[in-house]
Amino acid sequence: MILEFKNLTKKFGERTVLNSIHFSIKKSEIVFILGQSGTGKSVLLKSIVGLLKPEVGEILFKGSNIVNFNEMQMQEIRKKCGMVFQQPALFDSLTIYENIAYGLRRHFKYTEEAIQDKIQKVLSSVHLEQNILQKKPQQVSYGMQKRVSLARTLVLEPEILLFDEPTTGLDPVTTTAINRLIKEVSIQYKTTSVVVSHDMKCAMDIANRVIFLDKGSVIFAGPTDEIKLNEHPLVRGFFQEVEP
Ligand SMILES: Nc1ncnc2c1ncn2[C@@H]1O[C@H](COP(=O)(O)OP(=O)(O)OP(=O)(O)O)[C@@H](O)[C@H]1O
Ligand SMILES: [Mg+2]
Repeated sequence: MILEFKNLTKKFGERTVLNSIHFSIKKSEIVFILGQSGTGKSVLLKSIVGLLKPEVGEILFKGSNIVNFNEMQMQEIRKKCGMVFQQPALFDSLTIYENIAYGLRRHFKYTEEAIQDKIQKVLSSVHLEQNILQKKPQQVSYGMQKRVSLARTLVLEPEILLFDEPTTGLDPVTTTAINRLIKEVSIQYKTTSVVVSHDMKCAMDIANRVIFLDKGSVIFAGPTDEIKLNEHPLVRGFFQEVEP
């Protein structure tokens, strides 16, 4: 197990947004966290990287409970968990090369030659061409910006990739391409990938396992094949999008 959630509970004031969450993620898996809007998917993801702190329960990263880690210990966890946000959030004033190099320069002391090598490798992994490196983000399409955003995280070689709704707002063709890319890079870089999504179809295409949240509770956690047989009305509702 690379990540384990035990009895995890998160409240905002009187409101419980995560309610005794319990599940685990194996190394090299692609796990989708599905559920309606407002069920706590992003809160769960943010808890992993310490952006939010749960009141009760444990998050075990390779067996160590990280919930009470201090800021310095959390920095180490953040290096191992690459987060890819819904918005590409690239630096507009920097070239795409500098955007991808940013984290490398900040966290490591690589030579420029080593940085160039890493950028070349990651660029081909996300299927982008050389000629975009000297462009600014606003000079390339939104789909390409998403790829750059993935490249920027991937170049740091995280053990876990966390995606928050990587395909929301994309057209169907780009959605399929980005999903395929998530699967490809997960295999190539041997990462564990956790993908928060609304999209049952994408989950069926690429996930090994699915966690379904409703109002902060896990209503299904299991292999992708098994969710097809689940009778919960909400799960069935999500399926109607896939098999109307
Ligand atoms: N920082 C915060 N302070 C107070 N309440 C918050 C905070 N962050 C999230 N919430 C609340 O927690 C609940 C769960 O939010 P969360 O963002 O995890 O939902 P979600 O499942 O990611 O939804 P969506 O699919 O729309 O992104 C929501 O009701 C939200 O209003
Ligand atoms: Mg969210």
